[in-house]
Amino acid sequence: MKLWGGRFRKEENKLMEEFNKSFDYDNVLYKKDIQGSIAHVYMQIHCNLLTEEEGIAIINGLNKIYEDIENGNLKLEGNYEDIHSFIEINLIQNIGEVGKKLHTARSRNDQVATDMRLYAKEITINIIELIKNFKNTIKEVAYKNDCIMPGYTHLQRAQVVTFKHHLMAYYSMFDRDEKRLKNALEILDESPLGCGALAGTTHNIDRNITKEKLGFKRVVENYIDGVSDRDYLLELMSSFSIIMMHLSRLSEELILWSSQEFKFVEIDDLYTTGSSIMPQKKNPDGAELIRGKTGRVYGNLFGLLTVMKGLPLAYNKDMQEDKEGFFDSANTISMCISIMEKMIATIKINDENMKKAVKHGFLNATEVADYLVKEGVVFRDAHGIVGSIVIYCEDNNKSIEDLSIEELLKFSDVFKKDIYEFIDYENILNKGIKNNLL
Ligand code: ARG
Repeated sequence: MKLWGGRFRKEENKLMEEFNKSFDYDNVLYKKDIQGSIAHVYMQIHCNLLTEEEGIAIINGLNKIYEDIENGNLKLEGNYEDIHSFIEINLIQNIGEVGKKLHTARSRNDQVATDMRLYAKEITINIIELIKNFKNTIKEVAYKNDCIMPGYTHLQRAQVVTFKHHLMAYYSMFDRDEKRLKNALEILDESPLGCGALAGTTHNIDRNITKEKLGFKRVVENYIDGVSDRDYLLELMSSFSIIMMHLSRLSEELILWSSQEFKFVEIDDLYTTGSSIMPQKKNPDGAELIRGKTGRVYGNLFGLLTVMKGLPLAYNKDMQEDKEGFFDSANTISMCISIMEKMIATIKINDENMKKAVKHGFLNATEVADYLVKEGVVFRDAHGIVGSIVIYCEDNNKSIEDLSIEELLKFSDVFKKDIYEFIDYENILNKGIKNNLL
C-alpha cells in the first residue's frame, strides 16, 4: 500500500516501514487533505488536466471517503505510510483507474504543506476564540473584585494595589497574545499548492484557483520556499510558548494565593484534587498541571527549531517531525486556556485577608516619602527618614498610620495632621491605580 515502488528491486524493510510512517499521527489531517484534493481537482478540470466527468467522479469519491471517515465506516487505520497515501489508495480502490489521475501536477510536498497550513489556520482561529473568551472572564472577575490587596516586587509586599488591577495585568498579556496569533495568521495565509515537489510543474496549472477554493489570501511567492518553509509553525509555537508562560505565571500566583500562608483565594473544588493519605488536603492540581505543561510546549518549539536548523533546501524527511510537536502544543494550549478560564470564573476571593495583608507590611511607606517631598524634603532624604520610621515601627510592632503625630515629628518636623489622610490606603488607590485605564 504505497504510492511509490516502481524503481525498487526489494521490498522495504519492515522496521524501516514502521520508522518511516506518519499515519498514526498525521491522520488528523484527513479533512484538510480531502479539502486540498478537491480544490486541486477543480483546478485540474479548469486547466484541462481532467474532463469534467473525471473530475466529478474523483470529487464524489473524495466526498464519500470524507463521509465514511466521519460516520465511522472507514477507520483511520491500516498499514499506510501517511494520511495522503491512505486517502489516495482508498480513492483508487473505490472509484478505479480515474482515481490515479488525482496526483497529476501535485507532489506530496506541496500537498502536506497545504494540509498543515490549513490545519494551522483552523486551530489558531479556535485558540484565538478561547483567548477572547478567557479575556472576557478575566475582565468580569476583575471588575467584580475591586478590593485592595498588597502588590509585590521580589515577592515582598511593596505598594497597595487592587485585585482588579492585578488581574487586569493578565488581560493585557492575553490581549497581546491574541494580537501575536492574528499577526502569525496573516503571515501564514498563503497557498503552497502548485509548488510541486520543489520546482512547480510543467503542466499548465492555475495556482489562483486552488488558492481561492481553499480560502488563502495569497499564493506563496517562491516554490522552493513554499515546500520547505515551516516558519509559520515555529511562529505559532513561539506564540503558544509565550501564552503558556503567561498561564504559568498566573498558575503560580493561584498556587501561592490558595496556600494557607496567603489565603487570598480559594480555587473551586471542581478544579482541585485531594490527597490519598492526608484528608485535609485540597491541591491546586489544575494550576500545577498548566505550569508543568508549559515545559512541553517550550520543548516542542525547541524540537522543531532544532529539526530545521541544518536542513538544506527544499523538502527533507526530517520535516515530517514538525507534526507531533505542533499538534501536541496546539491541543495542550487549548486545554490549558479552557481550564484556566474555568478556574478564574469560579474562583473565590478572600478580600478580608488581602486587606489584612495590606495593613502589615508598610505598603504606604513610599507615600510617606511622597508626603515629605510635597512638604519640601528632597526625595533621597525623605527615603532615609521613612526607612528609620519603618525600623521604629518594626521595633514597636506598629504600622506607620498607627504612630501619633508626636512620634512622627521625632523623625521630621514637616509632618502635619493631614499625613494620615495622605497615606490612607483608599486615598492612595484613588490617586494611583484607580486612575489607570484598566
Ligand atoms: N508524511 C510526509 C510528511 O509529513 C509527507 C510528505 C512526503 N514527501 C516526501 N517527499 N516523502 O512530511
